Amino acid sequence: MQLLADLPTPQVLIDHTRAMNNIARVQALASSCGVRLRPHAKTHKSPIVAGWQIDAGAVGIACAKIGEAEVFADAGITDIRLPYPVNPVNAPRLIALMDRASISIIVDHPAVVRGWSEAMRRADRTLDVLVKVDVGFHRCGIDPGADPIGFLKTTASLPGLRLRGLLSHAGHAYHAASEEELGTIARREAEILGDLRARAAAAGIELDEISVGATPTLRFSAGQAGITELRPGNYVYFDRTQVALGAATLDDCALTVLATVVSKHEGRIILDCGSKTLTNDQARGIAPAAGFGAVLAGESDALDYARELDDALTIERLSEEHATVRVTGATRLEPGDRVRVVPNHSCVVSNLVDAVRLVDGDRVIDTLPVAARGRIQ
Ligand SMILES: Cc1ncc(COP(=O)(O)O)c(C=O)c1O
Repeated sequence: MQLLADLPTPQVLIDHTRAMNNIARVQALASSCGVRLRPHAKTHKSPIVAGWQIDAGAVGIACAKIGEAEVFADAGITDIRLPYPVNPVNAPRLIALMDRASISIIVDHPAVVRGWSEAMRRADRTLDVLVKVDVGFHRCGIDPGADPIGFLKTTASLPGLRLRGLLSHAGHAYHAASEEELGTIARREAEILGDLRARAAAAGIELDEISVGATPTLRFSAGQAGITELRPGNYVYFDRTQVALGAATLDDCALTVLATVVSKHEGRIILDCGSKTLTNDQARGIAPAAGFGAVLAGESDALDYARELDDALTIERLSEEHATVRVTGATRLEPGDRVRVVPNHSCVVSNLVDAVRLVDGDRVIDTLPVAARGRIQ
């Protein structure tokens, strides 16, 4: 049996109990509202973790890229949605994937939807599509205030496509300034999609699905009328940003980085986890959170390591392999000591390592390959 204390650092750790609790809690929320849960797999990129989510009741998974979906289909996952504007240039790969799993994608552009129709018509196949709606993030999605019915009619009428419903991602929720604003964003999202569905029905277009998904708005979206599917990704691990957004507590954060103090000077210590481990992502959220992650207080290898921040430590600068931590006040830390860091953004941290270590207390119980890591094509 391997102990945490035996692991070289830096290491990305997944606390098994906390991840399972996160999966169970969000599944219970979705089920209690009669809504399907389709976790976005970009956070873990692991068929093993996806299996836990499906065993708990998820209907399938979401992936951003075909390359990710290929890994999960290889592992036997049979229901995959790509809420990403996949271009029809990828039709041969998508069609090959459709032989192995039930696949759906989003569309939000007339030329792209025509391209997919043409590709499917040529292949004598039918592709399930959802129309992506811009609910305020202003990334992808049709403008609900422009001519959404025109686009829905085009999509519904094209051969080779089956229009399943509407889909959105309230990414702007990450910049909400208050709990109230998060609730407003979630309610507004449901309202925009519900209105559009009613207008579509009046125009003779039936839309079966309304899919929304973002971890910060999850708790507000679940009970909204009309929503049929939730697609949160980050919730499985959570991170410091979600804590700052009130979506999780520090105690819910399943992913931590185990790091070693490699040097100490007046007013600062240096850890061996730089931007190649923690990434340069800043924390977002209602509560301000300075620095590139939160150093936890207490013994890093202890059975139940402390779930409090070490207030004296701020990760103020990252080089590729160094974290420069400002020390204000007393610290017991000396070179060779180890700490745990809750990163700002767990999804990008897990994508930086070949495998994460599954831990239970002070024991390493498994090594989980991040199998879809780097599959960005
Ligand atoms: C289209 C789409 N759906 C769902 C999600 C999941 O959101 P979150 O990571 O906030 O759970 C994302 C995240 O990037 C996304 O882009």
